[in-house]
Order: sequence, then structure tokens, then C-alpha cells
Amino acid sequence: MAYKIITLPGDGIGPDVCNQSLRVLKVVCEHYKIDLDIREALIGGAAYDQTGTPLPQETIDLCTQADAVLLGAVGGPRWDNIEVKNRPEQGLLGIRKAMGLFANIRPVIVYPELTDASPLKDSIVAGTDLIVVRELTGGIYFGKRETTNDYAYDTCEYHSYEIERICKFAAKLAVSRKKRLTSVDKANVLDTSRLWRSVCQEVVSKEYPQISLEHMYIDSATMHLITKPSTFDVLVMDNMFGDILSDETSVLSGSMGLLPSASLNDNNNGIYEPIHGSAPDIIGKDIANPIGSILSCAMLLDYSLKAPEAANAIRNAVHKSIAQGYRTIDLVRHSNNDHLSTSAFTSKVIENLS
Ligand code: IPM
Ligand code: MG
Repeated sequence: MAYKIITLPGDGIGPDVCNQSLRVLKVVCEHYKIDLDIREALIGGAAYDQTGTPLPQETIDLCTQADAVLLGAVGGPRWDNIEVKNRPEQGLLGIRKAMGLFANIRPVIVYPELTDASPLKDSIVAGTDLIVVRELTGGIYFGKRETTNDYAYDTCEYHSYEIERICKFAAKLAVSRKKRLTSVDKANVLDTSRLWRSVCQEVVSKEYPQISLEHMYIDSATMHLITKPSTFDVLVMDNMFGDILSDETSVLSGSMGLLPSASLNDNNNGIYEPIHGSAPDIIGKDIANPIGSILSCAMLLDYSLKAPEAANAIRNAVHKSIAQGYRTIDLVRHSNNDHLSTSAFTSKVIENLS
């Protein structure tokens, strides 16, 4: 039976990168005899413009029945001044919640060929291979809130079951890697962080004794990620801290455009998306880096379709293309240096698939 895949190209460069990564996904799946039934749906500003809401019910229905969702990006200055409930970002938050995607995974690998693209010295970033695991359906993003004329509040709330499941998820991931887990919190100040720390300590020490677990304050973690990124393996944290730290770690590799992400629920249904935003300044120029979206397809194959060989074929082809010296504009020092368009770079990846 064919896997049901929904694409949500969204706004800005979302459609540009999705169209290209789908080319790669289709070629790989044909080769590995994986049947796909791909349908497109609306989200974000594009959905608002056509239907008056950033998350139409039809999109929720299609995504909750799908095996996996490939998303481009949401948002843009055009929708900055509309009512909060209709902002494109609400579409993304709503679909995460509707699909129960509590686990967000953002891997960061620094390719040896690209260490000079990183803002940090080679000696610091070399060998970095870490994963940020972010709790995605709780915390301050979804807590009680209110705005009046001269006062507003947002609240951060966590139940122990929410902390337990994300810490287990991260620990399981760490077991398959270097067995190091760093739990990030602000337990010297916040109650939710104190609960986080104790629940995390308990589940990990009881169920994953082989893991070396370290607790780190968020302020300290921001610093260590810049000064010694290669010492980290898996990091786990709440929704807000994960939003911030994953942007920080994304630049280690040289360009945010390189990085994929997966957001998963208990059934391994997921949304796969590059971690970059909609980049309205470069829409339609065919210069966006498609790697984040292409590697998101690899994660889709790994986690939702359980096709690790096909996933590795994509990862190897991306790495090979980089090793051959092909670059999109975000990875070259001067824009007059040789670089390929979004579609031309994707064609190189496809050539390298065999
Ligand atoms: C992300 C984004 C989103 C978030 C926005 C677009 C709502 O920044 O996926 O990190 O804050 O979660
Ligand atoms: Mg973010």
C-alpha cells in the first residue's frame, strides 16, 4: 500500500525548497520500491489568503490521516499586522498540536568540507555532531495567556508525563549514539525546570542507566554550545529553550539552510521541515539552499517510513555533492564565487544518488 504523504509548501521559499526536495524523494522511493501517494494542502499565510484561516480543517484532516507531512515554511512580513489568531505561525503551532507532535528533533552536523563556512574557528566546530530534542506541544507556547491594554502574561506549565515522554525519547536517541544526554533547564529559578530536572533524572537513571546524564542551565548551555560544541551528543529541553537553542546550534554548521528537522508523535507520524524560515527576501530567485528540506526527506524516510537505506542514500548524496565542491549561495564567501541555484544543486544530489 502506498504511504500517504501530505506536502504543505506554505510561504516564502517554502514552495521553492519543497518542490526540489520532492524531486529527490520521488527518485529515491522509485529506486527502493516505496510507493507514495502525495497530496498538497494549505498552511500559513498561503492558507489564510485563500481560505481566511492559516490552518484549514481540510489540512488538519489530511495531516492527521497521513503517514508523514513535508512542510516548507510559514510566515512573512505581509501577514505581520493581521489578528494574532490568523498569523501564519498559528497554522504551524495548531498542526503540531493537532497531530500530537511532542518531540522535535533538530540534528546538527558540521561537514568537514564546510568548516570554513562556520562563523566559529575550525578547531572549535570540527567534529560537531549533536541533536537538539525540543519538547514541542507544551510549555509557555501553549500555556494560559492574556493581553489587556497595559498588561499581558504568558504562563509556562508542564505535567510530569510530558517531561517523562520527551526525556525518554531523547534518552533512547542517545542510546543509539554516544550515550551522552544533556538536559537543559533553569532549575535555579523556575518551578517547571525543577520538576523537569527531577523527572528527567529519575526516568533516565532508572530506565537508561547506560547513559551519562548531565543537567545544564540554559544560560550556561548557550555559552558551551559556542565554546565547545563538539562535546555535546543529545540535548533535551522544553519548548521555549529548544526554540532558542536550536537557532543557535543551526549556525554552527555554516548555514541555517543546511539543517532538517522532524516533529514526531507516539505513532511516528511526523512533520518534516527545514529549520530555516520563509526568507521573504529571496522568494522566487531560485537561490535558497534545498539541503535542509532534502535532509528532512531523509528523516521522513527514517522515522515515518522506516526506510533507513533510502534515507542514507539521500544523506550520502548530499554529502557527496558538498564534497565535490557544489554550493548554494549561502555557503560561498563572496556572491561572485561559483554557486548553484536551488534546482541545479538538487540535480547534483539526484545525480549522486546512485
Ligand atoms: C520554529 C519556529 C516556530 C516556533 C515559529 C514559526 C512558530 O521558530 O519552528 O522554531 O517558534 O516554534
Ligand atoms: Mg524557531
